[in-house]
Amino acid sequence: MRKSDVVKLILQDKIIEPKQNNGLAFAPTNIALCKYWGKRDNELNLPNTASLSIALKDKGSMCKLAIHDKPYDTVSVNNQLLNDKSPFVKRLVSYLDLFRQPNAWHFIVDIQMNIPVAAGLASSACGFASLVCALNDLYQWALPPKQLSILARLGSGSAARSLWDGFVEWHAGIQPDGLDSFAEPIDAEWPSLCVGILTLDANEKPIPSRDAMLQTVNSSALYGLWPKKVAQDLVMLKRAIEQNNFALLAGTAESNALTMHATMLSSWPPICYYLPETIANMQKIWQLRQEGLPLYFTQDAGPNLKLLFELENRDAVQAAFPTMELVNVFGD
Ligand code: PMV
Repeated sequence: MRKSDVVKLILQDKIIEPKQNNGLAFAPTNIALCKYWGKRDNELNLPNTASLSIALKDKGSMCKLAIHDKPYDTVSVNNQLLNDKSPFVKRLVSYLDLFRQPNAWHFIVDIQMNIPVAAGLASSACGFASLVCALNDLYQWALPPKQLSILARLGSGSAARSLWDGFVEWHAGIQPDGLDSFAEPIDAEWPSLCVGILTLDANEKPIPSRDAMLQTVNSSALYGLWPKKVAQDLVMLKRAIEQNNFALLAGTAESNALTMHATMLSSWPPICYYLPETIANMQKIWQLRQEGLPLYFTQDAGPNLKLLFELENRDAVQAAFPTMELVNVFGD
């Protein structure tokens, strides 16, 4: 099945025609506590397993869409016009093609992000989620979030989870058309939960997650164990959320991330997102934890770490990691 077939199933009789000249939407970035790694369908970004994330509230992407009469799309990120041959622009333009008749009209896409781009901080997740919501605004589809989640997934898998604040679960689904593979918010608050962004290298990652996933699924001897680990971790995370059990939540998230990276390392050719600074900071976290500070981390497809801790330990964590950017995920 192709992406365009899924778009038809979602939009049904809704007419694809701009109802206004502009579309505007914000989507928060999300950090997975139980990761999505490996697809059962590469075209539709259908995952092998479910995943669970936390949104970073005001960290994310604001997407403004406008129609212009030029015969091409322009894409700028943080006021910088991107080269139309760059992989990101090509990906975005072919995604926009799903939502217009061939060469019917073109867009000015203006994305403002307050997180490093393509450095494993889920910039593609919030980027595609904000784009889909801006399209929903421009075309006045008034689609429910579940449908928006499916459309966002077609742009980038983890974008399916970037439509809500708080905890979000993305159901893997089993249908070939993926209409049962969407995310939903988990009804829970955790006011003291904090995430700290520790940017160790803001450069673009050496291997995109799309390629890295495929390489892992195709060559890692450990990948067969991954679905079992995910199933266990999802149970633990949901229990932790229900009981406000921080050590269970953050410990499960850290172990899940380490298992994902170990699985990647066992691919051939090996995939390694660690930099020396990543390891040094992981060891520092383990040391601090041994000394009694309840501090944990998670890591995505990049060298940066996201620290997990509770509000009461904010000062101690900030003192140990002065460059860390604090996000109080449920705060005002
Ligand atoms: O959605 P993608 O293709 O950028 O993949 C995201 C992969 C991870 O960030 C490593 C895990 C996740 O669940 O977000």
